[in-house]
Amino acid sequence: MHILVMNGPNLNMLGRREPAIYGSTTLDEINAMLIKKATAHGITLDFVQSNHEGELLDVLHEQFGNVHGIIINPGALTHYGLSLRDGLAMMDVPIVEVHLSNVHAREEFRHRSVISAISTGQIVGLGWRGYGLALDWLIETIK
Ligand code: DQA
Repeated sequence: MHILVMNGPNLNMLGRREPAIYGSTTLDEINAMLIKKATAHGITLDFVQSNHEGELLDVLHEQFGNVHGIIINPGALTHYGLSLRDGLAMMDVPIVEVHLSNVHAREEFRHRSVISAISTGQIVGLGWRGYGLALDWLIETIK
């Protein structure tokens, strides 16, 4: 079983980026937690973080037909990234959309996700733990 973990713009700055909103855990720490969980279940993970929508699409195209599930925090692309939305839709695998912060309790522009209509589900506002919960769900669902 192979799962792709994607993070969009500015998420490379986790730990230093607005910690009151996004927490003090870094992306490397989140990824290490995911690897630990995946290894215990004999699952392989691939990771991509990019500040460029096209780079995320390149990875989706490379991984086409090779992944069984996707965890994605699209960052601000959540709210306007239509190419990313289409790229994810064609993968035809379960997709869990994760947001560290509760986007619904924040600015109006964060309330709308162009990704959620093609996501299988969303985890919002549970901080770094949301990624682990997304992986737990995928492991149970894909098995
Ligand atoms: C985010 C929420 C987005 O609105 C924001 O642009 C991000 C992070 C979150 O994880 O809470 O970059 O996806």
